Amino acid sequence: MIKLIIDTDPGVDDAMAILYAAAHPKLELIGLTSVFGNVPVATATRNALWLAELARLGIPVAEGAAVPLEQPLRPHPDFVHGIEGFGHLPPVTPSQQPDPRSAAQFLSETCAASPGEVTICAIGPLSNLAAALALDPAIVRNAAQVVVMGGALETPGNVNEHAEANIWNDPDAAAKVFAADWPVTLVGLDITEVVHCGPDDFARVARNAPVIGGFLNDAVQFYFDFHRARHDIDGCHMHDPTAVITLTDPGLFEYREAPVQVTLDGETAGRTSFGGDCPAARVAMGVEAQSVLAEFLDTIGQADTALGLRQS
Ligand code: BDR
Ligand code: CA
Repeated sequence: MIKLIIDTDPGVDDAMAILYAAAHPKLELIGLTSVFGNVPVATATRNALWLAELARLGIPVAEGAAVPLEQPLRPHPDFVHGIEGFGHLPPVTPSQQPDPRSAAQFLSETCAASPGEVTICAIGPLSNLAAALALDPAIVRNAAQVVVMGGALETPGNVNEHAEANIWNDPDAAAKVFAADWPVTLVGLDITEVVHCGPDDFARVARNAPVIGGFLNDAVQFYFDFHRARHDIDGCHMHDPTAVITLTDPGLFEYREAPVQVTLDGETAGRTSFGGDCPAARVAMGVEAQSVLAEFLDTIGQADTALGLRQS
């Protein structure tokens, strides 16, 4: 089992990624850390707490950065994920409180407690990981690896032609994470926009897993509307779950080992490109999209049973 912390800004596709990880037998989800991005950080924390409760995980949720390291906070994309983060759904109301530690402290202490065993998967802006590196440089040895959903190497961005949202929201943090001497896998738009899920797929998982699949099917409808309007597809891109699936099914991807650099300012701020003098990252550049989709749908379709939310 891979011990996993997900750093997240939930977010519709973040919810898909977290619930996939919660239900998957190869993953032990041991904590969540929240960050601004799709929603303000307080909303991200609230949503992460609620997802952990929905899946009855009993894991800590530590709140992280409210703003980027250097640049001003960009507007939250409520037209993509809804004002509350889960599409049209009303605000969720978790009963638990966040962990008293900051996200950076939680990441640092959890990795130090089990050196070499904890994978961090970041599916929001990289501000918390940069803060953890500043707080505790030894985290580069204590973390097993870092998987990042972010970037667009040889494909256009999604906030503008240059930049992908997670990197654009905090390019300075991304540059620090790529410069650090730890194993980084980068899962960007080059492959996440190749993996599409459609209305029929989510309707089926809602029937098979009424609690987890039903929630995702409700939340995703607004996300579908955005994709119909912006991308002209009847469905949605599977950004964040695809990053987690590189952990459970690494053979479904082709990787290029190369350094990745980030443009820090100017018109192309947030652009990621091959080159520079960072340690080489493992960049996912090819994907068996249908197999990734099948893996996601199978796992979510069985999630209620896997999580003990109903009798099999
Ligand atoms: C990334 O940005 C967010 O909108 C999504 O949750 C995902 O993490 C895709 O560019
Ligand atoms: Ca996200």
